[in-house]
Amino acid sequence: MVQRETWATRTGFILAAVGSAVGLGNIWRFPFVTGEGGGAAFLFVYLLFVALIGFPAILAEFVIGRKTDRNPVGALVKYGGSTWKYVGGMFIVTGFVILSFYSVVAGWFIRYFLEGLRGSYASRVEVYGGDTAAMFGELSTGLDAFVLHTLFIILTVGIVALGIRRGIELAVKVMVPSLIVLLGGLAIWAFTLPGGSDGYAYYLSPEFNVIAANWMTLLPDAAGQAFFTLSLGMGVMITYASYLGEDRNLATDGITIIGFDTGIAFLTGLAVFPIFFAAGIEPGEGGAGEIFVSMTEAFATISGGHVLGILFFGTVVIAALSSSISLLEVVTSYVIDEKGVERWKAAAGMGAVIYLLGVPVTYDLVFLDLLDGFADGVLLVLGAFLMMILVGWIAPQAAVDELEKGIGDLGSIGQLWIWVLRIPILVVLAISLYLGVVGYVEFLSTDFAGWLGENL
Ligand code: TRP
Repeated sequence: MVQRETWATRTGFILAAVGSAVGLGNIWRFPFVTGEGGGAAFLFVYLLFVALIGFPAILAEFVIGRKTDRNPVGALVKYGGSTWKYVGGMFIVTGFVILSFYSVVAGWFIRYFLEGLRGSYASRVEVYGGDTAAMFGELSTGLDAFVLHTLFIILTVGIVALGIRRGIELAVKVMVPSLIVLLGGLAIWAFTLPGGSDGYAYYLSPEFNVIAANWMTLLPDAAGQAFFTLSLGMGVMITYASYLGEDRNLATDGITIIGFDTGIAFLTGLAVFPIFFAAGIEPGEGGAGEIFVSMTEAFATISGGHVLGILFFGTVVIAALSSSISLLEVVTSYVIDEKGVERWKAAAGMGAVIYLLGVPVTYDLVFLDLLDGFADGVLLVLGAFLMMILVGWIAPQAAVDELEKGIGDLGSIGQLWIWVLRIPILVVLAISLYLGVVGYVEFLSTDFAGWLGENL
């Protein structure tokens, strides 16, 4: 048997995991689902979800991975028995679905980066009639979107095929601080905007009667966003932890990853919402275009916005790559381990199928909702739910023992963790999943059926 690779440096694992978590989920998806969820109400439920469910759940994935040293399918089977291979199969499908639309969205960031190279953002917006939302509308679908989706998949496949781990570690070391500086600067600039201050009330002061009235959509949306942004629910963290030595403290690693990820999403909101209010645009209206609309408003106004814009969109592309490779890595490592295919063939073959699945999104954004809604509303929550059953009910002692390696005797805290997984988290996930499925079926029967009716 070949010796399984381990991380080259002590920080390699943490860098890769942060790189996987920080991506389009924070910069692109977070502001628009927050806008759709009414701002602060959504933020509140989301933060609770991350702290109370995200943290125990990331630990569960870590222990499964480190204990079994396998790709997610092999890991679940080794941990839980052979029926779990179906759950592993579902993870692979989830990876396919997420990466297919992820690549199209990453292509939009490449496009906005290129727009910056072509001229000032103010002049680029003029080309599209001076309307930043119309600009997004034109750029998000069509031939260019298709070409950039193609480019992004090729980049992702290339990195995974070559297995360039060192390069990624370096990229994440540069990307994370750059994002924090850029977003922090944008947030400070947004603070000075006349009329922007209403954005803070909108984003930061939740009204509890609004939460109570809307919890049936807030809960599944927050669940989907939390798992998506933390890369949980499909075995990425299992895979990354499987390359790990036993001496790491998984709890502090989990907190580090969650801290960076949540901090970057929160900063994005601090920049985006005041910009929206200052420009007189209603958040939630822009749909998937929110980050593009708000940032082109900003870069068209700020002096030197041109350079900032190129840096911002370029950095996000790197963030997207360090996430997309984690998605493709899960799928590829499965094919390599279980089917004995060579790495580059596995990466290219799987990449090609994923690519085709994403192509319709470049034609009409209804396909974005079709794929994204299924992945985040249903698949990730179901995946997490099943993993909680595995760790909480089927093999809890093995999980506690594994967690204690690198930390020391946990005493009753280990039992507390298991009991939290067993009952409260499972109940919340079951409700989220039910509501997520109902919401998705409703989307299929109204919006999507309507689109089909009009277009076929
Ligand atoms: N977390 C990444 C982001 O926020 C996306 C991602 C990478 C992901 N791997 C994942 C989402 C696995 C769900 C599952 O951009």
